[in-house]
Amino acid sequence: MGPVEIHVEAAPETAAHRAAGRVAEIIAARVAEAGQCYIALCGGTTPAELYRCLAAPPLAESVPWQKLHIFFGDERDVPQDHVENNYRLVTKTLLDHVPVPLGQVHPMPADCRDLAAAAEQYENLIRRLVPAGGGELPAFDLIHLGMGREGHTASLFPDTPALTERERLVIAQFVPVIGRNRMTFTYPLINAARNVMFFITGGDKACAVAAVLSDDDERKARYPAARVRPAEGRLIFVLDSAAAAEARPRPA
Ligand code: 6PG
Repeated sequence: MGPVEIHVEAAPETAAHRAAGRVAEIIAARVAEAGQCYIALCGGTTPAELYRCLAAPPLAESVPWQKLHIFFGDERDVPQDHVENNYRLVTKTLLDHVPVPLGQVHPMPADCRDLAAAAEQYENLIRRLVPAGGGELPAFDLIHLGMGREGHTASLFPDTPALTERERLVIAQFVPVIGRNRMTFTYPLINAARNVMFFITGGDKACAVAAVLSDDDERKARYPAARVRPAEGRLIFVLDSAAAAEARPRPA
């Protein structure tokens, strides 16, 4: 496993700034190194402030937006104009405000009739466009993830088939606990990334964060986020103090 980096900020707002700053640094460094950068973003409520920080000065001026390719790590089975749609969230808080070429933004097609076929198409798009890393798998330069209080990440929920997928990079699945279909990256794709960044805030997630950061494999096994372990890449946690409150030893 690659290096682990943990940042704890006093408040959700300062944590969002820190997370946005890390994202901007990773993009600028990768473009300087390879000329292009491939990232995958997530949805939910927590990242909105991160995306707003990225879209605002001074960070907005530091990011080479023309060289950026944006994908999505998971999506809900709703249309793109639906309030729960992750692509809509990213568009409203980031893409409407920065010059990423539209042809380099790839929403996940999670609201179509044949979800399994759509997931395969999205996987093929990633295999075609995202350069491979050390192994043969496409290696994103950054995959941004959140986490639910029960430890789900992307749409890798406890007790769902996606947790044991070893071949496919993107699958669609029905998630009983929310009664909805979701499309999601799988662990093989996530763990092939150069950088994976969790941005997590709020005391309701402190128990899951403490488990994920612990050395107790039995305790971790219940939390899908604990299986995010980039083979060679860097694993970054940006937390607010409430989310980090139960972690032992207390992260710096
Ligand atoms: C999604 C996300 C999901 C999210 C968690 C946390 O589509 O919902 O990708 O994995 O990160 O559910 O969501 P909150 O930020 O709303 O707590």
